[in-house]
Amino acid sequence: MKCSFTLNGRAVEAEIDGLTPLLRLVRDHAGTGTKLGCGEGRCGACTVLVDGEPVASCLYPAANVEGRQVRSIESIAAPDAPLSPVQDALLDGGAVQCGACIPGVVMTLTALLEKENRPSEERVRTELVGNICRCTGYHKIVESALAVTT
Ligand code: FES
Repeated sequence: MKCSFTLNGRAVEAEIDGLTPLLRLVRDHAGTGTKLGCGEGRCGACTVLVDGEPVASCLYPAANVEGRQVRSIESIAAPDAPLSPVQDALLDGGAVQCGACIPGVVMTLTALLEKENRPSEERVRTELVGNICRCTGYHKIVESALAVTT
């Protein structure tokens, strides 16, 4: 079947079957930098936004994005553009260590901060539950997210 959707503002059309994960379309077909981590929906490295909501694209069915808006990390800041406020805060806050989780974390925090101007620490931690970071213990990631709102 054909799947048509918008990725980072551009129309994308691809041939899929019912089991094709969204990650295959955004990474392999469209060539974004969306990461493959665990491939089992547990780490959040593959997080993209579908109509503004974070999803684990390694498990999310591509068929579900028909006619919808998908954003990958490339929608946050172009390579030659300034970093986004979330990216700046993570960098300034020393929240980036190995970096494996960071694109997914950026997507999740961007979605949250686009919906809520001043989320609580509890809210930030709840939103990040699907993004596994093995380095930081989350403290600096959460502090950085809260710094974006100040
Ligand atoms: Fe999708 Fe880990 S690669 S959740």
